[in-house]
Amino acid sequence: MSHDHQSAPFSGQDSPSRQAASAVDPHGAPRQNAGAVEAGDTRPQTASAATGLPLPDDDSRAHSTRVAAHLRTRIDAGGGWLSFADFMADALYAPGLGYYAAGSRKFAADGDFVTAPELTPLFGATLAGPVGRVLRETGSLEVLEFGAGTGALAEALLEALADQGLEVRYSILEVSADLRERQQTRLARFGERVRWLDALPRGFVGCAVANEVLDAMPVHLVRRSEDGTLQERGVVREGDAFAWEDRPAAPALAAMAEDRLPPLPGYLSEINLQAEAFVQGVGTWLAHGALLLIDYGFPRHEYYHPQRAEGTLMCHLRHVAHADALAWPGIQDITAHVDFTAMADAALEGELDVLGYTAQGRYLLNAGLSGHLQALQARDATAYARSLNAVQKLVSEAEMGELFKVLAVGKGLDEMPGFEIGDRLDRL
Ligand SMILES: C[S@@+](CC[C@H](N)C(=O)[O-])C[C@H]1O[C@@H](n2cnc3c(N)ncnc32)[C@H](O)[C@@H]1O
Repeated sequence: MSHDHQSAPFSGQDSPSRQAASAVDPHGAPRQNAGAVEAGDTRPQTASAATGLPLPDDDSRAHSTRVAAHLRTRIDAGGGWLSFADFMADALYAPGLGYYAAGSRKFAADGDFVTAPELTPLFGATLAGPVGRVLRETGSLEVLEFGAGTGALAEALLEALADQGLEVRYSILEVSADLRERQQTRLARFGERVRWLDALPRGFVGCAVANEVLDAMPVHLVRRSEDGTLQERGVVREGDAFAWEDRPAAPALAAMAEDRLPPLPGYLSEINLQAEAFVQGVGTWLAHGALLLIDYGFPRHEYYHPQRAEGTLMCHLRHVAHADALAWPGIQDITAHVDFTAMADAALEGELDVLGYTAQGRYLLNAGLSGHLQALQARDATAYARSLNAVQKLVSEAEMGELFKVLAVGKGLDEMPGFEIGDRLDRL
């Protein structure tokens, strides 16, 4: 995601001394201190003047009030406590209510954030290189995208693959009915070449992609308490407001947290069980080919770095990144960075090969981004000039080029293009 807020960039993740103490915004904006907006804040009712958050319009506030009411019933139904993972799942995906399920603008200059495919079609055009090579190696014309957002990546990939002579069939698996409709409108001109799936395919042969999907999956919050026990953080009601409450973590979650979190009292972080299950499950439907996972995140030793003591949870509201995940349910995005070691381990457990891991900037350059840019310059000087900024954002270490990573997992492939220089598999 990309934001208007510019500040201390996060780069050099391999040097702990340069690491930020808490999460960094995928585009460089630091998390704002959530201290003032913690437990019991009746955000939908009290607006954000005191917190510095943008004040949503009347319709958005009314919508958030409805989502908050829904979440209160979930908390009541759960006996007064709802795991944060369940809270986040409904705040983002409850049908007709959740942030991704209810028609807010989200990805746009006037939305909450901008993703790489929204910045420039050159992102998709460049990915089409490795995707095309996987298709040729597998002898398939099948592309599958998870969480296609507005359909921008699908559009760019379909066009660029057609330029390579590959008239692919493009399948989309999208959990949000609202986004599915937007994708259908945008991609209508491709006719029956694009289809939407209601379930995972079986025996898929070809290439799959997921850009910024893992970070949008609900996470469990885990905290090492002052006495060393592992707690799960959940949400309770204080009247109509929401507040945090920690409870002893269930044994399986506690065991995972024990393995991953440093032995520091008060250390808070996330475990993305859904993303791990998703990646492990790829082994059940992918018969031959690859899945490219593109997202912001780190290897485990950076993710659970002692200095990252408040985890990576982050919210986006009208291009402001902040840390109050209980504020404005349903109208703000909630996201966590990705532990790529966990994803690689999950892939191995799913009997997949882990084919490559590197930073987005490196990957795009390996995959031929410069050539696409030069070709555009020769073809259309105005479009070229417009693209320069976006390309800079995609590859610059100070913007998306380093924080975002590409992890490729797959089955039965002899080679996985895009990792020729700077593969970092050994750091996972
Ligand atoms: C941050 S948006 C990214 C959208 C798009 N890929 C882009 O880069 O602009 C996250 C997307 O993932 C979708 N999503 C979340 N969980 C999903 C899942 N389990 N399966 C498929 N899509 C999912 C959301 O509905 C949304 O479309």
